[in-house]
Amino acid sequence: MPERVKIAVRGEIPAGAGRVVVALGRVLALFNVEGNYFAVDNSCPHRGGPLGEGCLQGAVVTCPWHGWQFDVRTGESPLNPRHQIRRVPLEWDGELLYAILD
Ligand code: FES
Repeated sequence: MPERVKIAVRGEIPAGAGRVVVALGRVLALFNVEGNYFAVDNSCPHRGGPLGEGCLQGAVVTCPWHGWQFDVRTGESPLNPRHQIRRVPLEWDGELLYAILD
């Protein structure tokens, strides 16, 4: 059964930035794209680089290790459609942001 876990408070992450968060032992990358928040698994599918420490340009994060890129809104790579990261559903409750984890 999915669990709802608080991972941030509104305004905690500036627009255009990301961070690594841990929820129920899962390591997630959380991004603020122009006021809209998106979460994905933090581990890059190439070799496990920390996507939450990557550079965010628009909605595309670049892995800090070797430069693979992913659109954090869809989880898809704009360079190679076979490369994908898993998105994590989010839900607001007032000023609190929750990840829905299965
Ligand atoms: S680990 Fe992410 S690009 Fe290599």
